[in-house]
Amino acid sequence: MEREDKAEKTSFDPKGAVRVLGEYEGEAPEIFGVPTSTGLDRLFFKVSQEDGKWKREPLNGIPFRAVINITGEPDTGKSLLAEQFAAYQAGRGYKVCFVTVESPAQFLFRAIQAKAEALGVPFDKVEENLVVVDAATNPAIRENLYNFLQTLRYAVETYETKNTVVDSITGLYEHREIMARQVVRAVFNELKKLGQTAILISQKRSSQSSETAEAAGGLAVAHIVDGTIVMDKILITNRWDASLYGAPIGSVIRTIRIDGCRLVPHDTRTWVFQIKEDGLIDLVEPLENLISKAQSKSKGG
Ligand SMILES: Nc1ncnc2c1ncn2[C@@H]1O[C@H](COP(=O)(O)OP(=O)(O)OP(=O)(O)O)[C@@H](O)[C@H]1O
Ligand SMILES: [Mg+2]
Repeated sequence: MEREDKAEKTSFDPKGAVRVLGEYEGEAPEIFGVPTSTGLDRLFFKVSQEDGKWKREPLNGIPFRAVINITGEPDTGKSLLAEQFAAYQAGRGYKVCFVTVESPAQFLFRAIQAKAEALGVPFDKVEENLVVVDAATNPAIRENLYNFLQTLRYAVETYETKNTVVDSITGLYEHREIMARQVVRAVFNELKKLGQTAILISQKRSSQSSETAEAAGGLAVAHIVDGTIVMDKILITNRWDASLYGAPIGSVIRTIRIDGCRLVPHDTRTWVFQIKEDGLIDLVEPLENLISKAQSKSKGG
């Protein structure tokens, strides 16, 4: 994995890396959505031409074979979203590789079981189709990138999974943030080779500017992956915010936003979401709508 920046003569043959675009047609992935079962699915678009007019339609999922980064501060709902995606896919018969780096597999079991129940998908199917790589209790996987990639490839190829979740990628370079780019690049390349539709979770510290994909790890991840989703929470601490958002002091407004996607067009607004009692994520409305409703209410009353 060492980079060679030297301009030394080698036996390298440049022919293999140069082709005309048309030769890639057979290898280009189809454009369709892999559903997460959250409102996020409607925020990615497909454009098509009809009677000379361009039309935007929801993709109804995250783009097939995309590697998407979900970033956010602690407790913003990243794991909930990833678990909901994994449980939904597995329950519908699609194999998912779930790499758990933070939470030991036994805890993941209960979380996924609860999601399956709430989603109304058969848990026996989920148990069968969800393949767990427990990097949380295996330092040999978590702390050695080579072992990690080997294990990931083994899991994906043996079980023929279509989707992969890594919660979190940050856990692979803890205390070694200088390695972030290298780790993320290697995992990204491997997921691409394996043809996975993937969600990588990256954690952001509160000190790193909120509401952006920026972070020691987050920044490294955002430039490499196909798209980034930022999850955040706004804590209402003063009268000004309370009147702006129309929410009581002490309450929390949770938000989600697609910060960028290279593969397909997407909604660029910040959306308000709820974590329902059953732990499922529910997109409510764009934040701008919530604000304008609060404004017209305060003007009216
Ligand atoms: N069933 C539920 N009902 C209401 N709220 C819930 C439920 N389950 C989880 N939550 C809330 O959702 C929060 C977000 O959880 P989650 O584990 O997804 O955060 P995270 O973004 O992955 O954080 P971290 O970076 O620390 O891993 C929880 O701390 C809890 O407050
Ligand atoms: Mg988490």
